[in-house]
Amino acid sequence: MKNKITPTGKEIIMQDGDFIVSKTDIKGRLTYCNQIFIEFSGYSEQELLGQQHNIVRHPDMPRSVFNLLWQTIKAGEEFFGYVKNISRDGSFYWVFANITPSVEAGTGSEEIHGYFSVRRKPEPEKIKIIESIYKDMLAAEQLASTSDAIKAGTKVLTDIINPTGKEYREFILSL
Ligand SMILES: Cc1cc2nc3c(=O)[nH]c(=O)nc-3n(C[C@H](O)[C@H](O)[C@H](O)COP(=O)(O)O)c2cc1C
Repeated sequence: MKNKITPTGKEIIMQDGDFIVSKTDIKGRLTYCNQIFIEFSGYSEQELLGQQHNIVRHPDMPRSVFNLLWQTIKAGEEFFGYVKNISRDGSFYWVFANITPSVEAGTGSEEIHGYFSVRRKPEPEKIKIIESIYKDMLAAEQLASTSDAIKAGTKVLTDIINPTGKEYREFILSL
């Protein structure tokens, strides 16, 4: 299901102790959402389960961030990132997400059978930093041709990170 919601610019803010949790299959279809996920998204559990996780995708998010996310988790590594999500009513909410691959316990198999995500409230000063980076990434993506968009968005990010001498993960965790 593609997201056709019009953003309203209204923000909903997570509480300090809130955790927004979801699980997906290997294709990114929702297999579990906790109560807070349901509340922030504005959909019922029934409406969410089986849907692609892009049901909460906000148009301000650069494609290259999701590209990095999927590259990381498909490689079996955990991903950390700031994400601006959209609710059913057009409101937005920022999260700091940790996404990990789930592997079958006890089987000795390293095969990924799904993904697990826990999101907590990001600090407002960090949102300010990331918001401006995402804005530049999105602008670069929009200027580029469709086939070059991810490369262009990613370049904006690496040009910011490389001079710090850090890897993406270290950079994001050090903001
Ligand atoms: C476990 C998991 C959690 C995810 N959480 C989010 C999320 O909170 N918001 C979001 O927009 N995309 C999330 N994604 C990424 C989506 O699957 C998707 O790549 C993204 O929304 C971009 O959608 P698009 O490729 O259709 O443009 C998550 C993916 C996984 C596997």
